[in-house]
Amino acid sequence: MTASVTVVVGTQWGDEGKGKIVDLLSTEADMCVRFQGGGNAGHTVINEYGTFKLHLVPSGVFNSQCLSILGTGTVIDPPAMLEELQEIASQGVNIDNVKISDRAHVVMPYHKVLDKVEDQARGAYRVDTTGRGIGPAYTDKVGRIGIRISDLQQEQVLRDKLAIILRRHNAVLTNVYGEQPFDLEQLVAEALTWGEQLKARIVDTVPLMRAALRDGKRIMLEGQLSAMKDIDWGSYPFVTSSSPSAGGAAVGAGIPPRYINRVIGVAKAYSSQVGTGPMPTELLDELGAHLRELGGEFGATTGRSRRIGWFDSVVTRYVTELNGCTGLAITKLDVLDTFAKIPVCTGYRYRGELITDLPDPLAHEACEPVYEVLPGWQQPTRSIQSLTGLPYNARAYLDRLAELTGVPLHSVGVGPHRNQTLLA
Ligand code: GTP
Repeated sequence: MTASVTVVVGTQWGDEGKGKIVDLLSTEADMCVRFQGGGNAGHTVINEYGTFKLHLVPSGVFNSQCLSILGTGTVIDPPAMLEELQEIASQGVNIDNVKISDRAHVVMPYHKVLDKVEDQARGAYRVDTTGRGIGPAYTDKVGRIGIRISDLQQEQVLRDKLAIILRRHNAVLTNVYGEQPFDLEQLVAEALTWGEQLKARIVDTVPLMRAALRDGKRIMLEGQLSAMKDIDWGSYPFVTSSSPSAGGAAVGAGIPPRYINRVIGVAKAYSSQVGTGPMPTELLDELGAHLRELGGEFGATTGRSRRIGWFDSVVTRYVTELNGCTGLAITKLDVLDTFAKIPVCTGYRYRGELITDLPDPLAHEACEPVYEVLPGWQQPTRSIQSLTGLPYNARAYLDRLAELTGVPLHSVGVGPHRNQTLLA
């Protein structure tokens, strides 16, 4: 039996509705792995158990037959993780199948303080982070001074590592930013408690993955954000500190790339972005505010207003090409139901030239969008149950997005519930 491995990635700036797609696909998965990021994700899932905002826990948790793993590429804030698990369990969901890679990194309390003060200090290059310590945790990982999940059960290792780390971080916190230092023994005690509380969930994912691939299991790899926020391929420096791309999925989950046979790129029928960075189709007027209200575009993790714009096919094509997407899942089509005309960005005007490839972030900032205006359908789509039932103009709009991005449609979202997804 051949294993099937599906990666779900965002193709805009995040918040495309990946949670709903992964939740849907996980109903048929044997394993679901979050491969990067931390508690800054805000996957909204609405299913028979209720409404959930998943920050760390993989969306596969709702399928009791599915093993849900926080992969090696993630960074985990143990108290936040424990709280999230408890919340999910309190809504009747079985959480026994949620496991954590022993190689994943720990977001420590000092990372959260560093995140806030360092982002402020970036001035014009401020990323507008969620302040959850994700960036500093990855910085320590790459700097080879991070604490791994496996360290949480080893008192002496913890004490030795933390003594070295605190020498550096306490100096920066107190001398550069005027913050309070962290106490070594208090942190050791806290970290050991987390290790005890998470003990039953900590696993070596290598043999698990080997067995799953050997036995032909169906594996879902769940990302967060999008390649536009990728540390290498995004609008640097307005990016996250990991790789939310399909390549990053192989690394973060520990799957040999040749096993990945499906990459679903998720895109909203329009655009949104949280935080700073170029966004040529951004609508700064009343129309943008209206679209924001219609789409409920306020962050699942922070409640922040998202920046809103029309669909940008230059961005989405760049991302789908980088990821090798095999299918495009368009979400939130219903949000556009009332518009008479819907502009789609097909290129940019930059220094008098028409360009259709994504330029570097500085040039991207200066790009003027070039629009093709498509007719709206001005009909509710929320209760439509199949693609063939969609109004003609809605179908034409979707087909044009697929054509511009070069990826066939996988599915279309006409509402937030799992069932409001029309499969192609
Ligand atoms: P990040 O990983 O943080 O980037 O988030 P995400 O891509 O998982 O996005 P999220 O789950 O936050 O989805 C955005 C919002 O869209 C949520 O409130 C979803 O319930 C909602 N949503 C998803 N699909 C649809 C849809 O087809 N129609 C409508 N109206 N809402 C949808």
